[in-house]
Amino acid sequence: MPPPAVPPKTPLPGVKHLIAIASGKGGVGKSTVAANLALALHMYGQRVGLMDADIYGPSVPMMFGLGMIDQTKTPFPVEKFGLKLMSMGFVVAADQAVIWRGPKVAQAVGAMLFQPPWGDLDFLIVDLPPGTGDAQLTLSQSAPLTGAIIVTQPAEVSLIDARKGVKMFEEVRVPILGIIENMSYLGLPDGTRLHPLGQGGGAKLAAEIGVPFLGEIPIDAQVSQCGDAGEPIVRKFPDHPISKSYLMLAQTVVNEMLKQPTNAALPDVEL
Ligand SMILES: Nc1ncnc2c1ncn2[C@@H]1O[C@H](COP(=O)(O)OP(=O)(O)OP(=O)(O)O)[C@@H](O)[C@H]1O
Ligand SMILES: [Mg+2]
Repeated sequence: MPPPAVPPKTPLPGVKHLIAIASGKGGVGKSTVAANLALALHMYGQRVGLMDADIYGPSVPMMFGLGMIDQTKTPFPVEKFGLKLMSMGFVVAADQAVIWRGPKVAQAVGAMLFQPPWGDLDFLIVDLPPGTGDAQLTLSQSAPLTGAIIVTQPAEVSLIDARKGVKMFEEVRVPILGIIENMSYLGLPDGTRLHPLGQGGGAKLAAEIGVPFLGEIPIDAQVSQCGDAGEPIVRKFPDHPISKSYLMLAQTVVNEMLKQPTNAALPDVEL
């Protein structure tokens, strides 16, 4: 008997490149990279949306100085700093826990992606939660992802989880667009670089799986301070050396995208 037909991925009309920011590991800086990359792309004149697919621990509201949103007054997606934003944190209070089983998480991710009128976008960046769970699978199987960018830290322990993230995307046939290494080094005023979290892990992983190494972002207290204060560093201090790293990253991503088909509907597979 032939295998059952796999439903095609639902298109996102008007969205040229749908990119997931992922990592098997928690706390490596996915959300910070996603927010600063989205803003850096916007600073290069791209039309950009940012969807926060972290249902249990959304980060976009805090990083963009927003809280719960009254949809009757401010329609979704919410606009801030030139980006179009969606997050579970716009409908659930920051101190309220979402206690949902997998199917409901998958449903919420699908609703955030397909219901809001995103309009014409060059990039829709999706900030994924850690791990390889329901949010990742829903996105990979139902949406026409251009690909995933994996964020890792230089240490070997981060690479173990990053490899799991890579494996998951490979299994669902989503291309890995490249690796970003976050918290790569600490720059001292005299120009020397300290590597408190190890060295070279991101480049090593990129070489191992044969994808581009997209760049490294140093450690700097200003990155987290700006994120916590509701205005990511690349927007608040565009001339800061770290902001230059994000802008370079955005340029590399745009160049890599020129090599990719636009909003490609890749063949789906059953798990
Ligand atoms: N380059 C950096 N320098 C200093 N602090 C950073 C840097 N990148 C991220 N951070 C900080 O590290 C913490 C974790 O970052 P973030 O929330 O972006 O990680 P995450 O991978 O999205 O986490 P989660 O897995 O919980 O979603 C935050 O406090 C953030 O401000
Ligand atoms: Mg996050």
